[in-house]
Amino acid sequence: MSARDESISNADFARLRSLIYEQSGINLNADKKTMLELRIKRRLRSLHLDSFGEYCDYLFGPHGLKEEIVHLLDAVSTNKTDFFREPEHFEFLAQKAIPELMARNASGRPLLVWSAGCSTGEEPYTLAIVLSECIPANTGFRFRVLATDLSTTVLTKASRGVFSREVVRPVSADLQRKYFLRSRDRASNLVRVVPELRKLVEFRRLNFMDGDFGLPQKADVIFCRNVLIYFDRATQEKIMQKLAHQLVPSGYAFVGHSETLHDMDLPLVPVAPALYRKANGRN
Ligand SMILES: C[S@@+](CC[C@H](N)C(=O)[O-])C[C@H]1O[C@@H](n2cnc3c(N)ncnc32)[C@H](O)[C@@H]1O
Repeated sequence: MSARDESISNADFARLRSLIYEQSGINLNADKKTMLELRIKRRLRSLHLDSFGEYCDYLFGPHGLKEEIVHLLDAVSTNKTDFFREPEHFEFLAQKAIPELMARNASGRPLLVWSAGCSTGEEPYTLAIVLSECIPANTGFRFRVLATDLSTTVLTKASRGVFSREVVRPVSADLQRKYFLRSRDRASNLVRVVPELRKLVEFRRLNFMDGDFGLPQKADVIFCRNVLIYFDRATQEKIMQKLAHQLVPSGYAFVGHSETLHDMDLPLVPVAPALYRKANGRN
């Protein structure tokens, strides 16, 4: 790559930014140019291209959008996550939300808990662990965790359910013994989620920008945490309107602790920090 091509031109940055915004809602400020360059560089190597200019010619050319957009959106999404991240939410779920949702669910239909923006799987597997602990199989109640994300790379990793020991450290030793398998190779640093837990989590690609989420049923609980921060306020409100529509009346919606739905036109009422509930009688 020549010195000239070591950075994205301002004109290319402007069209990349607006394409990314239009396709994913992710709003990249001017200060994200270096980050974008670093991430696209990996795509240049995979595509054997020599410059950002060539990359843009390909991307905005006849086949580029169809073939490359998924990879570009993968490259720009930020996937930081953890097991038991923001742990008060899981305590509320176990102590208050689930017992109450089970008591109201006289028909015994399976509860649906949705991790929207699930990244590499730590959040949905935490949900599956917490739900398994508070809804033992012998109670007759069932639940499913739906885990969705824009990025196919994170979904592939998430569905394998393989993590390093450092990553599972926030999980208590008891729960690690119950829900993770150690490798037969004693020198390996990897553990895998047990098949019984993996079976409870369904991963699928879903872009919040899509008109119809195509979900089979409304969710009892939605976790959409540390995702809204990547969008501008108007996009955040539109996404939350669509998510609230997918929630059953009196269902719970969790957002990240640095996110707020204050002043948005939503059928949700605040319950606790970063926790909302759908108003009864609203659709
Ligand atoms: C920082 S992670 C949050 C992971 C997890 N919810 C947590 O709190 O630990 C944000 C996730 O949102 C996803 N995301 C970004 N834009 C999206 C969109 N338009 N539709 C669906 N997911 C999106 C990213 O791919 C990323 O995995």
